[in-house]
Amino acid sequence: MQTSASVDYGYLRQLVFGLSQNVLDPSRDYLFDTRLTKVLRNQGMTTLDDLIHHLKVKKNPILERSIAEAMTINETSFFRDGRPFELMRTELLPKLIESRRHVRSLRFWSAACSTGQEAYSLGMLMHEHFPQLAGWNIRIEGTDICTEVVEKAQAGCYHRIEMNRGLPARFVVRYFDHVGEDWTIKPEIRNMCNFRTANLCATPLPFSRIDDRFDFIFLRNVRLYFSRESRKTLLAGIHKVLAPDGVLFLGSSEQPADPTIWTPVLAGGTCHFRPRQPS
Ligand SMILES: C[S@@+](CC[C@H](N)C(=O)[O-])C[C@H]1O[C@@H](n2cnc3c(N)ncnc32)[C@H](O)[C@@H]1O
Repeated sequence: MQTSASVDYGYLRQLVFGLSQNVLDPSRDYLFDTRLTKVLRNQGMTTLDDLIHHLKVKKNPILERSIAEAMTINETSFFRDGRPFELMRTELLPKLIESRRHVRSLRFWSAACSTGQEAYSLGMLMHEHFPQLAGWNIRIEGTDICTEVVEKAQAGCYHRIEMNRGLPARFVVRYFDHVGEDWTIKPEIRNMCNFRTANLCATPLPFSRIDDRFDFIFLRNVRLYFSRESRKTLLAGIHKVLAPDGVLFLGSSEQPADPTIWTPVLAGGTCHFRPRQPS
């Protein structure tokens, strides 16, 4: 696709990197032209040149943030990649439930949750297969840097096309209400989940001030957008908020930056990671 020779795309790339740590390759500069049309319209501007000139003259944190958010890739689906959820059902959850039987509490973090399908998949999985968890304190936290996707996750309302991706038909009937063209997640699953905006590259890391550690962290398909350094820093932070017997899932093709603090475990046709404890 064509880009305009006059536009200072390097300025926009640097701005996005500074706010979200997302590294954008110059070969994809054309994405600024397509993705920032709404931002331009909201500002009453017509060209990227106008936008960049405006930002160079006067700092505008809200506008800068909306640019970084518009450049995020929010691709997701229910039960994405299948195998991690299957492994949770058959092996990981039964063991954790047994070892948490005295505290009767489980905490999950869908880090970079996008529009919420990952968090709701966890909620449906537990509701469907682990009735013994009734009365337990189950918390599924979903966070994402992008306000628009977090609002959609909070609404829990999905279009037919989103529903057709990865969701077993019986779950559609059982866990969603059909409202007009859309389906809305039922309160019993919605109430297990809490969504908010948070930047995974900010200091301190979300939840790092909370004492209760997570039992499961899903950090899938987001680190690939970060620089090597930010990936490493993020995983060191994640290590601190995960319980010593907790489990980390990354995207199917991702590896942790630092094998000295993570043990990869191959099981159920997928790989998950256990935190190594300092010896
Ligand atoms: C491709 S989606 C992955 C969604 C989900 N984890 C999955 O695997 O289906 C990547 C998400 O990461 C979010 N993201 C990108 N940079 C982020 C950052 N610095 N902090 C938090 N979320 C970020 C994007 O807004 C986007 O929703």
